Amino acid sequence: MRILSSLRIECATESAIARAALLIQSGKLVAFPTETVYGLGADARNDQAIAAVFSVKGRPRFNPLIIHVASIELALDLVELDARALALAGQFWPGPLTIVARRRRFCPISPLATAGLETMAVRVPEHSVAIALLEQSRAPVAAPSANRSGRLSPTMAIHVADSLGESVDLILDGGPCRIGLESTVIDLSNPHSATLLRSGSITVEAIVNLIGPLSEKNNKDTCCPIIAPGMLVKHYAPIRPLRLNAKTILLGEVLLGFGRVQGATLNLSLRADLAEASTNLFSMLWELDHLAVTATAIAVSPIPACGLGIAINDRLQRGATN
Ligand code: TXA
Ligand code: MG
Repeated sequence: MRILSSLRIECATESAIARAALLIQSGKLVAFPTETVYGLGADARNDQAIAAVFSVKGRPRFNPLIIHVASIELALDLVELDARALALAGQFWPGPLTIVARRRRFCPISPLATAGLETMAVRVPEHSVAIALLEQSRAPVAAPSANRSGRLSPTMAIHVADSLGESVDLILDGGPCRIGLESTVIDLSNPHSATLLRSGSITVEAIVNLIGPLSEKNNKDTCCPIIAPGMLVKHYAPIRPLRLNAKTILLGEVLLGFGRVQGATLNLSLRADLAEASTNLFSMLWELDHLAVTATAIAVSPIPACGLGIAINDRLQRGATN
């Protein structure tokens, strides 16, 4: 099964990207790398292709998708971006920031993709393969993370093949994702408030510096509250149970370390660098899930809850939720 599915992985050469763009245009599903995680892409205007994305992921239909476009101008065709949104987009696009804004009246995106909401999440990714695919397909591409719903997000092509197998028409392999955590999601659909829906590598501080304070419930340092349909508490879960803030290793456990700790099977970052840890997080959890088959649980060293550590702890806490 795994060997068969891996046949769909192709190195993201020019010709493979050109083929991928044709597949998107004909309503097929293509997994592709972004700087955050791999996305499962489909033409966001095509109801049937979008229905296939939900079904392949096993994703609840109430959980809307992020629409990826190649430029701010193309985003402006789809959603109303106010001065705050334009300031953020100007600073962080292309890059790991998703903005939720109001759909334009004649927006061509399938209502299925946005779960029937009047708002829509948009992002201009930075990865050269993602941009090439968007430009060549000339389509807005809906792309959730390319994993079964609720599971670890993929940061390598092999993770996509392992999670989704043959239900994806092509997996473009662009190597490991640089950031390794999903984009920061900010809701600007209300002109009177800005709300952090998902923490990511673009920090609250960086956003606040540009557009001022975020709405009250999101000024907390811990993980963001569940205010979006997709902000489910249990998410990003490895197969094995997670035990967080572990200072010792219990019988039967493997340790995913951070910093100079003893006995770690894998270490997110020996030099306690949060950016390195975020890049490694999902792939090391995936490795421990697959390699440490006799382990009863994955213990994880404490990660400081500041800067990028907020997003890392957010993913770990959701992954550990029963
Ligand atoms: O980094 C990323 O964002 C990756 C790459 C592939 O771009 N994509 C990704 O998509 O993480 P996904 O579907 O796994 O997460 C999108 C999140 C979901 O939690 C969803 O609920 C939220 O964005 N979202 C999408 N549209 C929304 C909307 N209109 N209002 C509120 N939340 C929305
Ligand atoms: Mg996801």
